[in-house]
Amino acid sequence: MSDHYEKPNVPEQMEARTAEATGNLPGCSPASAPPAPETAEKPCSKVKSKPGTGIVKRSPDLLVNKPRACASSDPGKGARRHALPGKGSGKAETAAVKAVRNATSVTVDTSKAKTSLEALKLSIRQLKWKEFPMGRRTACDIYWHGVSFHDNENIVSGQVNKFPGMVEMLRKINLSRAVRTMQQLFPDEYNFYPRSWILPEEFQLFSTQIRLLKDSDCTMKTTFIVKPDSGSQGDGIYLIRDPADLRAISGSQVKQAVVQEYIQKPLLIDKLKFDVRLYVLVRSLDPLEIYIAKEGLSRFCTEPYQEPSQKNLSHVFMHLTNYSLNIHSGNFVHSDSCNTGSKRTFSSVLYRLASKGVDIKKVWSDIIALVIKTVIALVPELKVYYQADIPPGKPGPTCFQILGFDILLMKNLKPVLLEVNANPSMRIEHEQEVSPGVFEYVPSPVDEEVKVGVIRDTLRLMDPAQRKPPTLLGRTPEDAIIVEAGSDEKAELVGALPSLCLKPVFPKYMKQFNYLRILERIADIFLRFLGVKGTMKLGPTSFRTFIRNCKLSNSSFTMASVDILYIDITRRWAGALSDSRESGMGLQAFVEAFFFLASRRFKATPPREQVISLLELCESALEGEGHDEKTRPSKSHPALNSARVPCALNSPAATRRLQTLQPSGKGNVEAWEAEPRTSC
Ligand SMILES: Nc1ncnc2c1ncn2[C@@H]1O[C@H](COP(=O)(O)OP(=O)(O)O)[C@@H](O)[C@H]1O
Ligand SMILES: [Mg+2]
Repeated sequence: MSDHYEKPNVPEQMEARTAEATGNLPGCSPASAPPAPETAEKPCSKVKSKPGTGIVKRSPDLLVNKPRACASSDPGKGARRHALPGKGSGKAETAAVKAVRNATSVTVDTSKAKTSLEALKLSIRQLKWKEFPMGRRTACDIYWHGVSFHDNENIVSGQVNKFPGMVEMLRKINLSRAVRTMQQLFPDEYNFYPRSWILPEEFQLFSTQIRLLKDSDCTMKTTFIVKPDSGSQGDGIYLIRDPADLRAISGSQVKQAVVQEYIQKPLLIDKLKFDVRLYVLVRSLDPLEIYIAKEGLSRFCTEPYQEPSQKNLSHVFMHLTNYSLNIHSGNFVHSDSCNTGSKRTFSSVLYRLASKGVDIKKVWSDIIALVIKTVIALVPELKVYYQADIPPGKPGPTCFQILGFDILLMKNLKPVLLEVNANPSMRIEHEQEVSPGVFEYVPSPVDEEVKVGVIRDTLRLMDPAQRKPPTLLGRTPEDAIIVEAGSDEKAELVGALPSLCLKPVFPKYMKQFNYLRILERIADIFLRFLGVKGTMKLGPTSFRTFIRNCKLSNSSFTMASVDILYIDITRRWAGALSDSRESGMGLQAFVEAFFFLASRRFKATPPREQVISLLELCESALEGEGHDEKTRPSKSHPALNSARVPCALNSPAATRRLQTLQPSGKGNVEAWEAEPRTSC
């Protein structure tokens, strides 16, 4: 999970040339285009900590003013290209600009920021906002938590940088479950996630399926990767070729883990396997708003790749791309250039591919589609967590979160999702051995540049002054500032802030993906019957009420059968979820019951149509209702009010519209919009 960024080094005069060559390359800045040959090996400036202290000393030139070899995006280059007013710009501020800035002097509680503190401090300083490192007696506008929503329990207003339940949802088992449910409905759209089995509960299934495969083809040499449920940084991961090789703990029980099909033919560069870390901002759940950072990091293995064989299965430096593992390899290449070494920018990789004729626009748009689909798979359960922690009527903050997507490119360039990190490292220092055996934290200019960019842009997007109605009209935050400030101040305000490194992708591409949001509609029904008591599980009476209000029982499906269904499914899920806090039917169990009811009722149609038909039926039965004392009050939590879902998904008319909204390019954003290359 460790991540470090390296910026390509492109002098400004190269901008036009590289922009032309790269077209729609991601990247925060013109610098994200790969370096010109003459500048490729120029070193980054290095700043070392005071020997022996371990304390990082920051050079004043790290942030602004002085151009540096690798530090050419926002803070440095941004400052050169759009000098921050009042700091070396030499430009007098107009009263209007000052007034706007004063009006938006946002307060940020950084007392729980942990390892992201350094990057956060720099971002706040650049924005000229107010930091409260020890917390504040009165409320702050923004609370920055290092780990989870619950780092500070007493927040009743403002915005927190974590969603309740995100850590839980992104554990490997839960992510696999969420994607798998979507695969049941949309197998083609969700084929970017490797086939996975959940251990220990699916051990038998896994063993049987593999045996059958091997029996049918004895030359089959499939490999599997086993990942501990809550592991990170490659810890506890191993490869196997036979179910019998699964490592047991404490006797015969296999640890909670995901065992996954191993991608045997990854794309290689310099004969090495690599993966991609991308930062994604979920700005809001309802309405759903997603941004993707235009620059990412490619992390390379340190031993040439060979397809798995019994001999090389244990070679972690060949098969696992984690920085935290490969840093310990003698072959790890620390490079100050951004297109060589064991850590490179994703844009430098893309540029290299482009030079070999690869359609990198397609690669990038496939990645955007993967990110949107993954978030869509997570949203239903996140809504349940949200309502449990901040029930309607209870004062509470709103939430946003930066996620770290780990993506592998296959040899055929198809992106594959490996995992999503709820807490991607935002450290801007890295450990360095300054003398044999002596390690110190040393500032990493490239990490600082990219991560500060992501955090600063996230803060800007969360600026309370900008929390306007969602960007349905496609207005960017810069546009929003323009509207607020009035046309006279436009130029100066836009000039005062670097362009955003975060690219809005949802609701921008809403039309192409909304048809996938079926589970969200099922979750809306679930929430409606859950009530507002801060619970996450449906009791038997509420389940009965759901059946009755949706008019789903009849002579062949009596209320007694309903109770049996409830008990049966709930028991099974209670066994599967070892960490379940309360008894009852959770959303995943409810979805299973819903799918079962759909298959019973609409026997002749394919599974997806069955579920959509049942949804229509339930939604029309519930439409206009809502006064039933046992159902959820019609005045729901503003943040979760399904009536506010932009596409008004829960009306039958909208449902019919949805069904006709067939994915033009099967969830591919390639053809939809050729974006001009932006710089920041
Ligand atoms: N299905 C897979 N096929 C091939 N390689 C994989 C697969 N899953 C993971 N890896 C490799 O293992 C590394 C660690 O896996 P990941 O799921 O990211 O767990 P962690 O949380 O430990 O980083 C990845 O960075 C990648 O190099
Ligand atoms: Mg990882």
